[in-house]
Amino acid sequence: QHVAVLYGGISAEREVSLSSGKQCIAALREAGFTVTPIDVTEDLTAVIHALTHPRPDAVFNALHGRFGEDGCIQGVLDWLGLPYTHSGLRASALAMDKAAAKAVFRQAGLPVAEHRLVTRDELEAADPLPLPYVVKPVNEGSSVGVHIVQQGDNRRAEIARSWRYGDHAMAESYIPGRELTVGVMGDRALAVTDIIADAGVFYDYESKYADGGSRHVLPAHISEDAYGRALDIALRAHQALGCRGASRADFRYDEAADRLVLLEVNTQPGLTPTSLLPEQAAHCGIPFPALCAWMVREARH
Ligand code: DAL
Ligand code: MG
Repeated sequence: QHVAVLYGGISAEREVSLSSGKQCIAALREAGFTVTPIDVTEDLTAVIHALTHPRPDAVFNALHGRFGEDGCIQGVLDWLGLPYTHSGLRASALAMDKAAAKAVFRQAGLPVAEHRLVTRDELEAADPLPLPYVVKPVNEGSSVGVHIVQQGDNRRAEIARSWRYGDHAMAESYIPGRELTVGVMGDRALAVTDIIADAGVFYDYESKYADGGSRHVLPAHISEDAYGRALDIALRAHQALGCRGASRADFRYDEAADRLVLLEVNTQPGLTPTSLLPEQAAHCGIPFPALCAWMVREARH
């Protein structure tokens, strides 16, 4: 079977996707597929040419962020009539828009944090929420552009002035406690990982991808009840958005209040050597090449 792997891309997560893509290309070859790597750049015509000369049996989408995770490339692939891995256009677009996704989660009865969408001017003028709160782009991944604003750090105006992630920012109540994540493969939630960012205050870009930037406790040492709820919420969030293939739900867990809060669903979860979904799959007895082969089997258009 011939699989084209889309990787790289034009988002702030290009480097992450190059890393995901390289791993996937090697794993798919190991699993017996004939692989054509396609480094996605600004040149969409070149991408379409590569996808149609010859047409592969399936497209493995290893892109992250804008254009690759937000429904754009999914629309192109739908239009070309090529089956592709992971979520389709609608679920991708919904999940990537953190405000839209939270509306869907609320509707489905899933726990989310309070938020407000603010313009730069509004953010520069006043605290949109009681401190501490998080300021994040509505449409990015890998913690790009995420800031925690705390009592006395006086960084709000500076964050507002240097904001370059669109007209609005999402201000969201900061949930103290742990950072948990749950991978989903189809109708199965895999496991709960507790992420401990060693250096900083949160699991930022550096701690996500630098070697030794974070420790993963898998399975997470939390109560059996909370563990089960996290699995359940992740699966329901995947279903509420209409996701396909694999996804990964990120949470905050305030242990003192026994409060789990769903932050987001990633429809193109990282597949790099330090990434969480592959680690959970391996924990469940699914080696990386088998995970990638499963994704290809689930490819649709
Ligand atoms: N956005 C990164 C790739 C992730 O969620 O894993
Ligand atoms: Mg994300």
